[in-house]
Amino acid sequence: MTHDMNAPHPADLAQFSTIAWSALVPQIVADKRKAQVATLSTVGQGGAPAARSVVLRASDRSRASVDIFTDAATPKCAEITNDPRAALTLWREDLQLQLRLSGTIEIVEGLEAQAAWSALPDLALPNYGVTPPPGSDIPTATSYARQPDQARFAILRMTLFDMDVVSLAAPVHTRAYYERRDGWRGVWRAP
Ligand SMILES: Cc1cc2nc3c(=O)[nH]c(=O)nc-3n(C[C@H](O)[C@H](O)[C@H](O)COP(=O)(O)O)c2cc1C
Repeated sequence: MTHDMNAPHPADLAQFSTIAWSALVPQIVADKRKAQVATLSTVGQGGAPAARSVVLRASDRSRASVDIFTDAATPKCAEITNDPRAALTLWREDLQLQLRLSGTIEIVEGLEAQAAWSALPDLALPNYGVTPPPGSDIPTATSYARQPDQARFAILRMTLFDMDVVSLAAPVHTRAYYERRDGWRGVWRAP
């Protein structure tokens, strides 16, 4: 669904949710300048928050899940294995919409991830298979190699518990909270 950013957001919770899900549909992923970047927060070592930019790769409203691609050797995967709780935050300037999602992440690898790997543009493949593993200390800025390695490709599939949506579109600010346990019915909140 498309939405005219100059039009006020609807006063109906179901329509507002549809706009929120339309904001989670990834844009053109082959052109990284146009990809939808979000901030993924996990529970870091020792329980402190850990956050980084990621690209939104897919979303599924019926399952209420979103997919992110990563290198399985990145520290975030160890964090997620240790504690799967996560938050994903994004601002869609064009829609004047902030989305704050929380849920748990399942790391999908192997056969299940194969179709997504096959659909990646060649240029993206070396992002999965850096040696030494991402986050390792190296003696100079370029002391690393990039060799595509399908075994290192992982999908982070986040299944949502809830979604907090804030619209700054004129003429009034609106905010709604949706959660899985009430069937995503939603409730308006003071922004
Ligand atoms: C614009 C942008 C998009 C990024 N997209 C991804 C991504 O989709 N997946 C990913 O694993 N890392 C992505 N990164 C790199 C991460 O932000 C991070 O540096 C890297 O994954 C290591 O994170 P970790 O040490 O927390 O595991 C992106 C970085 C930027 C600046």
